[in-house]
Amino acid sequence: MKPRLLDLFCCAGGAGEGYARAGFEVIGVDIAPQPNNRHEFHQGDAIEFLTANWRDFDAIHASPPCQAYTPLGALHPHKTYPDLIAATRDALDDIGKPYVIENVMSAPLDKKRSITLCGGMFGLRTYRHRRFESRLPLAPPEHPKHVALTATRQRKARWAEGWHVSITGDVGTYVGPEAMGIDWMTGDELCQAIPPRYTEFIGRQLLAAIGAPIEGVTP
Ligand SMILES: C[S@@+](CC[C@H](N)C(=O)[O-])C[C@H]1O[C@@H](n2cnc3c(N)ncnc32)[C@H](O)[C@@H]1O
Repeated sequence: MKPRLLDLFCCAGGAGEGYARAGFEVIGVDIAPQPNNRHEFHQGDAIEFLTANWRDFDAIHASPPCQAYTPLGALHPHKTYPDLIAATRDALDDIGKPYVIENVMSAPLDKKRSITLCGGMFGLRTYRHRRFESRLPLAPPEHPKHVALTATRQRKARWAEGWHVSITGDVGTYVGPEAMGIDWMTGDELCQAIPPRYTEFIGRQLLAAIGAPIEGVTP
């Protein structure tokens, strides 16, 4: 039986897909319906679901919404965005299972207990830095120097010229899927996602930490 990973705030499952590729059975939870998520899905509040069901899981991933920590929040001061990192961390610490919280670089994650992943580490054509916080000692790959130009507009034309692209806003589905390694989402879902390559990498370290077999690695 595969170890079970709870994917909180799963959206269409960029993070979840990477954990599945690493070898987990993935169960996602999101407040909104997620018809494009490829894994077992439960609609509801992430922390309520966690509190009620954590015993059924071997490890937990959480990607709380990031808008409160990005320039988007400052651009729309009349809107309120949920700030769920502290509450998620508190709930996970109380439970005591291995966990990872992912978010944007400007989010209030604990930098001493975090690693940063970049698309350049995995040969992707988007840099998309994201931080991963855990009480497990995660190790990042070497961070290659950024040498490619990054397009935020005219992405299709720039992509053809060999640029990288920034996955922000509803990027549509012409270059975003290739840049992210994701071919099952809408443009709006893509811009919220993390590349599965990131969580496949983290997932292998989680499997090692919980003593589960890792596919392709002979004990
Ligand atoms: C940044 S997205 C997650 C992206 C995902 N990790 C991926 O890689 O595809 C955050 C998600 O949190 C969901 N969300 C917001 N508040 C929530 C809550 N209280 N409980 C569960 N999900 C929530 C949003 O609907 C959104 O889909």
